Amino acid sequence: MSTDAFSTLSHEDREFAPSAEFAAQANVTAGAYDAAAQDRLAFWAEQAARLSWQTPFTEVLDWSDAPFAKWFIGGKLNVAYNCVDRHVESGFGDQVAIRFEGELGDRRDITYAQLQDEVSQAANALTELGIVAGDRVAIYLPLIPEAVVAMLACARVGAPHSVVFAGFAAAALESRINDAEAKLVITADGQHRRGAILPLKPAVDGAVVNTPTVANVLVVKRTGIDVEWVEGRDLWWHDVVDRQSTTHAPEAFDSEHPLFILYTSGTTGTPKGILHTTGGYLTQVAYTHHAVFDLKPDTDVYWCTADIGWITGHSYVVYGPLANRVTQVIYEGTPDTPTQDRWWDIVERHRVTILYTAPTAIRTFMKWGDHLPQGKDLSSLRLLGSVGEPINPEAWMWYREVIGGNRCPIVDTWWQTETGAIMIAPLPGVTACKPGSAMRALPGISADVVDDHAVPVNHGTGGYLILTEPWPAMLRGIWRDPQRYVDGYWKHFEDVYFAGDGAKLDDDGAIWLLGRVDDVMNVSGHRISTTEVESALVSHPKVAEAAVVGATDATTGQGIVAFVILRMDAVDDHEGRSSVVRELRDHVAHEIGPIAKPRQILVVAELPKTRSGKIMRRLLRDVAEQRDVGDATTLADPAVMSLIAAGLAANPSED
Ligand code: WTA
Repeated sequence: MSTDAFSTLSHEDREFAPSAEFAAQANVTAGAYDAAAQDRLAFWAEQAARLSWQTPFTEVLDWSDAPFAKWFIGGKLNVAYNCVDRHVESGFGDQVAIRFEGELGDRRDITYAQLQDEVSQAANALTELGIVAGDRVAIYLPLIPEAVVAMLACARVGAPHSVVFAGFAAAALESRINDAEAKLVITADGQHRRGAILPLKPAVDGAVVNTPTVANVLVVKRTGIDVEWVEGRDLWWHDVVDRQSTTHAPEAFDSEHPLFILYTSGTTGTPKGILHTTGGYLTQVAYTHHAVFDLKPDTDVYWCTADIGWITGHSYVVYGPLANRVTQVIYEGTPDTPTQDRWWDIVERHRVTILYTAPTAIRTFMKWGDHLPQGKDLSSLRLLGSVGEPINPEAWMWYREVIGGNRCPIVDTWWQTETGAIMIAPLPGVTACKPGSAMRALPGISADVVDDHAVPVNHGTGGYLILTEPWPAMLRGIWRDPQRYVDGYWKHFEDVYFAGDGAKLDDDGAIWLLGRVDDVMNVSGHRISTTEVESALVSHPKVAEAAVVGATDATTGQGIVAFVILRMDAVDDHEGRSSVVRELRDHVAHEIGPIAKPRQILVVAELPKTRSGKIMRRLLRDVAEQRDVGDATTLADPAVMSLIAAGLAANPSED
């Protein structure tokens, strides 16, 4: 861990209270904090009543096997029924659930009644393919309606899904399929991105030759490009799903039945399968979506721009919003296709009222220029959200002024794949927000900031963010590795959950997130571990050693900077350094995916190491961020840093 981040503490005195008009219509008032403080478990039991339970629960929380929680014990429910069927049964079958827009401009509105039919057909197809409750299904799809349908169909039959971001490479897909021992992979022929067609099926073909558990690959025809086909294994979605019956009786599953596994980066090279279950997860995503986004199901048009490959897509595109009977926009493509005002065009045409996105996107739009959003009518917006990394005050103010027209509350939401749902955020009708602060823990959630000895810090001081009480949507562990769960989250500070983030309490007790304090990088809101990229680099025959750091980046939050030592025998003298660097960047993209491609690769002769052989990343970060190098006295060879710095000065922008 490092406390470097604490040196960036800044002061922010501006405050923006909700307008009287917004406060008067808000779903949740300040009383929620008091109610939850008086009886936390009764508060969560009340929130669980937002859902339809086939069998009511008899106990709210069983924490006797801590840190393995059980919530809503004895309760049984079906997640897909809660997200779809019950809305049809209560008379909202004609309400549009999904307003899909493809990158090419193709559109499809799907009502709740249609969604019920499609999810039922897909559930029947899963059954025909031999999938039963408990089997794992890997989903490797672009952001198209079939992705949502596939997830809900898995939930409906009790088969935990493992969604793998469609930007990941074959090797990354393969290791995730194998860890989960998935029986089925659902994918597409390709996807539309940035005006081109990106094939997806080849990555699946490459992965499944090494995944013995996979019996079938179900393929959505999205682009019509040619694909390789393995008879008997590969099946078209339209051949198998479309002919199924549109009725399917949802079975109720235990509140602790696994709902999904989602792989995320930790501090080692192997991604961890974060496990989420049914009742507690759905309760907290539904409550937080209602409270933090102030959703009015009859009038709002909600748009969360996250991909379903990330936890934000699971909790705030699929499960929370649909449980709350949302009408939402789903957009397949990139923000600059065909022009850089695509998002604002979507907001204008769909009359979007709630927009939830990431700081890296906001900073990109700032760079592209105010004239783009100003050229569109954004007056339908009434609330803005941010997630994924700390939002700097400048971006917050720009979001408020240029996108929100100074009238929309901004909810900066802190949470993690592991927490499953939002933990720290303003309540939009209650909280006076400070630009850049996530403010305070939501009702029913207990967070604190502590020093190295687990002592709560005073106001005005920085430390480590911890969560002090179990919460309904918390991870139930790491798939197939309970010990890694205990060691990774509950050992830094005895018996409390350590999130891996630094934070500061300001003079008023508001929480300011300061970024990760471990070896996890945050690039455009995506978690990538330094070791994962290092392993990919050293797997290349020309690399002897590699060290990777996340360096501050004005747009992406952090950028990946790699320091590599080449194998002299493997590098041809005549081969230009830049061609090796290009080859290594492509190699990382091939091993993990384009999101892990280093921004910069610096070829060095030595790496700074302690006498015990540990790489001192702090010093490399100083170099990468072009700062004076800090205290290097613990280095085995103190001359190394000046060698590196000199080498870099000679090759300043090699990338
Ligand atoms: C960071 C994404 C500051 C944090 C939902 C956390 C944030 C990691 C915020 C989890 C925020 C997320 N302010 N930092 N509002 N939201 N983070 O698992 O470092 O992809 O630990 O979940 O993102 O990333 P993950």
